[in-house]
Amino acid sequence: MPSPSHPRKRVLSGMRSTGKLHLGNFVGALDNWVRMQDQYECFFFVADWHALTTDYADTSKVKENSVEVLLDWLAAGLDPERSTMFIQSHVPQHAELHLLFSMVTPLGWLERVPTYKEQRENITEKDLGTYGFLGYPVLQAADILIYKGDFVPVGEDQVPHVELTREIARRFNQFYNLKGKAVFPEPQPLLTPAAKLPGTDGRKMSKSYGNTVMLTDPEPVVRQKLKTMVTDPARIRRTDPGNPDVCPVGDLHKIFSSQETMAKVNAGCRSAGIGCIECKGWAADALVNILNPMQQRRKKYEDNPRLAWDILEAGSAKARKVADATMEEVRDAMHMSLDYEPGNPQGKR
Ligand code: TRP
Ligand code: SF4
Repeated sequence: MPSPSHPRKRVLSGMRSTGKLHLGNFVGALDNWVRMQDQYECFFFVADWHALTTDYADTSKVKENSVEVLLDWLAAGLDPERSTMFIQSHVPQHAELHLLFSMVTPLGWLERVPTYKEQRENITEKDLGTYGFLGYPVLQAADILIYKGDFVPVGEDQVPHVELTREIARRFNQFYNLKGKAVFPEPQPLLTPAAKLPGTDGRKMSKSYGNTVMLTDPEPVVRQKLKTMVTDPARIRRTDPGNPDVCPVGDLHKIFSSQETMAKVNAGCRSAGIGCIECKGWAADALVNILNPMQQRRKKYEDNPRLAWDILEAGSAKARKVADATMEEVRDAMHMSLDYEPGNPQGKR
């Protein structure tokens, strides 16, 4: 149990402001965040600057996309009483720390980041040969370290970024300290147990594939999307037996359905006792069951957008306080305090 001498460990994570979220975002991150609220002191932020590293050309939807993300967070059960939710760009201290980190981060570290190489090769429709795109893991390091987070819940693809964050913390601490005391602790990644969530085409659910079920999809849309979902290719006719272990609909059942339903799917599919249409109907039932309460919670904030925005503003104010305290230490350690006093050997007022 947390107490004054053993305060809760701090968790921090961010999500790009991509607009409305889909079930893959929920299973891959959000669901995990919601559960962490009981155990940790949580800071969750909408990474709107990070969204600009790839989508810098048209910024007209930035705020709208941030609000959509927040609404889905609240819908999923992030609770402003327990978690600090904020917007990255409303805490400009991140940018100052990013700048200072950029001075001590060797270029080679950034060029080696796997997501950098991958995305430079795979994303061809926009020019990612920018300074900001290369430096984005340094900004992420600033996001994390400015709150001195203990744990950073992330998916597998983001683990190298947390590793780089640890290296930057170490390097900063080597150069600068507060009378021998390190400014930054090294955060640990907390790997989100990755249930692989297939989209309607069987590939990983992703906005860029157009195969998503959105958290905001109404029931008829969910049912329609499932109807077109790919199945075990061996089940061509109704009388052909199938295998839920190689069927994307089977994967959905494993994540969302009860043991009872799962047993019916297993037996019925393998014996050709059920048809895929029936099976997909059960999968849709399970999804609707999860999405319904979320959509009800979302409605309250949709009807009153000011309520949602107030949560982000209050969270951002709280985050600025924490970030500011860290920046004072950083400036002190670097002999760049804003309280500089000429002639005083301490350099401070
Ligand atoms: N880079 C992360 C992503 O693309 C988002 C992110 C930005 C983040 N800053 C962070 C995640 C800090 C964890 C901690 O998903
Ligand atoms: Fe997939 Fe269900 Fe059809 Fe089996 S019955 S192939 S699990 S959709």
